[in-house]
Amino acid sequence: MGRGYLVTGTDTGVGKTVITAALVGVWRRRGIDAVAIKPVQSGAIEANGRLVPEDVVFYRHVAGLPQSIDELNLYRFTSAVSPHLAAKLSGERVEPSRVVDFCREVLQRYELVLVEGAGGLCVPLSGPDFTVAELARELSLPLLVVARPGLGSINHTVLTVAYAQNRGIPVAGIIINGLKAGEAGPAEKDNPGIIAAMTGVPVLGIVPYLPGVSVEEGSADGLVETVENTVFWEDLVPRICGCTGTG
Ligand SMILES: Nc1ncnc2c1ncn2[C@@H]1O[C@H](COP(=O)(O)OP(=O)(O)OP(=O)(O)O)[C@@H](O)[C@H]1O
Ligand SMILES: [Mg+2]
Repeated sequence: MGRGYLVTGTDTGVGKTVITAALVGVWRRRGIDAVAIKPVQSGAIEANGRLVPEDVVFYRHVAGLPQSIDELNLYRFTSAVSPHLAAKLSGERVEPSRVVDFCREVLQRYELVLVEGAGGLCVPLSGPDFTVAELARELSLPLLVVARPGLGSINHTVLTVAYAQNRGIPVAGIIINGLKAGEAGPAEKDNPGIIAAMTGVPVLGIVPYLPGVSVEEGSADGLVETVENTVFWEDLVPRICGCTGTG
């Protein structure tokens, strides 16, 4: 079975999709058979009478994924609320075993897989017993945590890591995303060090805010190159594939 990570965040909208798409783009450029999936998407967009999971569209565009949307997403709902509620509002239900089987199949097929959660770690995918954290546990996947750069992020990040560790879910790394040029004040400068010290988890990179990047508009100017140069992406690559390095 290939290796993978569950990508979670300290909150919704922190940049999980941006980081996921870019990492898979970097890996694929290095010849790694990597893929990203979003098993449950709420806030899907209606286009031509179809529901489109926006995050998956962005992965395909940024990483050049050849897979169909249905291969990368299982459930999609219109309402932009927690998946358990979005499903209910559509008269549907997320079946935990279907989600787990969907992810396992993808994990078996590819060398390196990123599974994007929804919102943060405690978000219910189908109800109180099946959260994003439970999905990571079922799949035995370590986490990658995407966090904001500034004030408030120490607390959100340390709590997220503590919640995972209390449940026996390993955290492979933290990626800080969206640092605006010229806005690195004392908090932004101090956060990576104090967060790493308090969690015992490495901060694998600090990704700047890129004005040419928008998930909604499908634009990703300079994104893959920037992540390639700002994140220790090699640390996440399985050793067996022998494709690390910067050549
Ligand atoms: N480094 C960045 N530079 C510029 N814009 C960014 C960056 N990271 C994220 N964004 C923008 O911030 C918004 C939220 O990012 P994203 O969709 O990746 O978050 P998310 O954590 O995946 O959200 P969700 O919980 O809805 O899945 C999007 O509009 C995205 O384009
Ligand atoms: Mg997303």
